[in-house]
This record gives sequence, structure tokens and C-alpha cells, in this order.
Amino acid sequence: MGGRVVLGVSGGIAAYKAVEILRELQRAGCPVRVVMTHHATEFVHPRTFAVLSGHPVEVGQFEGPAGPGVDHVERSRWADLFLVAPATADVLAKMAAGIADDALTTYHLAHRRAVAVAPAMNEFMWRHPATRESLRRLEARGVAVIPPDGGPLACGDSGEGRLAAVARIVDSALGLLPMRGALAGLRILVTAGPTREPVDAVRVLTNRSSGRMGVALAAAARRMGAEVVLLHGPMAVPVPPGVEAVRFETAAELEGLLAQHAPGADAILHAAAVADFRPVRAAEGKLDRREGGAALELEPVPDLAAGIGVLEDRPYLVVFAAEIGEDRERARAKMAAKGADAVVLNDVAAPGTGMEAAENAVVVMTARGEETVVPRAAKETVAREILLALSGELLARRGKEDGDGA
Ligand SMILES: Cc1cc2nc3c(=O)[nH]c(=O)nc-3n(C[C@H](O)[C@H](O)[C@H](O)COP(=O)(O)O)c2cc1C
Repeated sequence: MGGRVVLGVSGGIAAYKAVEILRELQRAGCPVRVVMTHHATEFVHPRTFAVLSGHPVEVGQFEGPAGPGVDHVERSRWADLFLVAPATADVLAKMAAGIADDALTTYHLAHRRAVAVAPAMNEFMWRHPATRESLRRLEARGVAVIPPDGGPLACGDSGEGRLAAVARIVDSALGLLPMRGALAGLRILVTAGPTREPVDAVRVLTNRSSGRMGVALAAAARRMGAEVVLLHGPMAVPVPPGVEAVRFETAAELEGLLAQHAPGADAILHAAAVADFRPVRAAEGKLDRREGGAALELEPVPDLAAGIGVLEDRPYLVVFAAEIGEDRERARAKMAAKGADAVVLNDVAAPGTGMEAAENAVVVMTARGEETVVPRAAKETVAREILLALSGELLARRGKEDGDGA
């Protein structure tokens, strides 16, 4: 049996798609109960959800005969995941603010495990700073946001804001359920952050990587049930809970750590921004400007990813291509040159995304030719989508190993 889900349905035109989400979750073996906002009942009658879920649907909190139970508290003991789909701009704002004035929003505060929201709304509502702020606050609290798709909207406009495809919502939900942890049993090695190559006793050559993307990947893999080791350089963000972390400074140190940890891993997500060049030798002491200009002689750093790519029995290798412009051919060539199984391409020149930003937008490409576009979202959300896009191949690898061992 899958994990138990409370499905929250709010009052948008996409409410009818919640019926299909309910059915797909049930097909995946998850028992589902439903709470709706009053406005959602303008779009779909609660009876549809009651019949399909086999349970009464809660809308207001004070309707019907006065019973002894406190429904939202009882449900919160029962559920592994609270999934709000579709989530209106209104319900996102209420959740962000902690308002609890109906069954759905009260349940949100009583719920104690994973929460996910699948927003759906008109593009202007989606882009409104108030909605962006709600999402930021929810994401900062660990709520998984399943980003909407672009395309034609029910209001006649076209743009971002259309509820994500049912399959994507259900995949995301399943990935968040502990009992079905999509990556359970896998040991995943993540590298994150910049390297620092010494120039002299106090100065270093480094880059703008914040480590955010790698940390988000480590956290997402952990939440999806994997055992995670994070090899990280100096980062602007903390190591996530439940992750074993080992710190490096230079590319040479990271190389040593990879040699140590790679053999036991099922997969390596190589998101660290490793120096391409380093000073041939660090100056002794501190370079003194009174001695005039100093020339820095640089040598190329060995390609660490390519080093893993040629290992015998190597883990599934995912490399990251930070490109100026979304050049898929270049990213593919990089994947091939490194012998990697997948490449995550991100356009570091796109406004608001990339190295130091809190958001990212990527294309995940596998050596087998599959491509998944992950639209712009918080790095935490993008990390989960990357893992979902690769989970089939990752698990196939585990299956193969299990088979080999039998
Ligand atoms: C026909 C119609 C369609 C709507 N579709 C959406 C929608 O897709 N997303 C959204 O955020 N609001 C939508 N709204 C506005 C919400 O219904 C409105 O903000 C309402 O207060 C939301 O209530 P709830 O969040 O409690 O369900 C729609 C309104 C109407 C009349």
C-alpha cells in the first residue's frame, strides 16, 4: 500500500483535474481523502470526491450534525502527505500567512508531514509579486511546489499558470511519500559549491557558485529516501539535515574524496563548480604589492567528471553544464566527452537564474536521448524535478545491481 494522502482542492477552473489526480494516486496504491474550499464546490460537487475516495468530504468545519470528533486533527494523524491541487492564488496566500478559516486551511496547520502544492491560475496572477511572495514563503518552510506548465489557459490567455500535467503531480506526490520513497535504497553522492585554489597564503582563485543547487539536490534525494553523501566546498547555504557532509577546498581534495566515495555510490550528481585552472604553484607567504605586479601562471585542472566516467563499474553519473545561452548541442557534447549518463543544462546568463540566484531553470538530457524541460522555479523545486526526471534510470540501475547479485 502507498502512503496516505489528503488531497486539498481549491476553487480554480482546474478543480476538475483533481478527480483524475485522486484516481491516479489510488491506482498507485495510495488511500486518499479530500478536503475542499467552498469555492471549489462551485466547480466540482463534493459528492464526486466522496464517492471516489470512499470518505466524506470536508468543506466548512461547522456544517452537518455536531459530532464529537475534531476532523482536521484526526486526519493529520492519518496522512503522510497533504497535496493541494489545484492551489489557487488565494489558497497559497492563506497557507503562506497561516490563515485557518475553512477545512482546507485549518487542515494545513494541523498536518505534520510533507506538504505539496500544485498552483494553477491566470498568468498575471501567477506572476503577481503577492503570489511570488506566497510561494517563496511556502518553499522556505519546506513545502514542495509543483510548478505549473505554460500553454493555453482557460481564461483565453496563453502563458505560465496552467496546472502541471496530472502525471507530473502524481509523480511528485509519490516522491514525497516516505513509504514509497522513490529513491529508497540508493546511495547518492552529491558534489556542491566552488573550489578554492590558493594563489598565496591568504588569496584564492574561486568562482561564484553558492552551492545552492547541489544542496537542494542533496536535500531532495534525502527526502526521496536515498542515503546521501554531500562533498562540498565553501557554501552560502547550510548542509541539509540527514545528509553526511564532507568539506573540500581545492579540486585536488575533491578528487581524493571522489576516489574514496564514488565506488560505494549508485549515482553521482556532480554539481560542484570545479576550477578549470589553478595556479601552478602558490606563492609563499603573502604577495606584496610594493614589489610591483605579479604574473599568475595557471595550469588546467584535471577533468574530475571525466575521471569518474571512465571508472569500471562506475556509478550513474550526472554532470551539470552551466552555459551562456541554452545550447543543447554543447551540453550533449559535454555529456559524451565526460562519459556521463545525463547532463543538466542551465543557462547561467538567463536573468534571475543560475549560479548565485535562488531560482533555476534547466533542461535534463540523458545519454539515451530523453529530454525534460524544468521551468524556472526555486532551486529546491528544480532539484526534485531533476531527480524525478532521472528516477527511472536510477532505479533501473539499482534493479540491475540487485539482479547481478542474485
Ligand atoms: C470561472 C472562474 C475560474 C477561476 N479560476 C481560478 C484559477 O484557476 N486559479 C485561481 O487562483 N483563481 C481562480 N479563480 C478565482 C478564485 O475562484 C477566487 O480567488 C476564490 O476566492 C478562490 O477561493 P479558494 O481559494 O478558497 O478556493 C477563478 C474564478 C472564477 C469565477
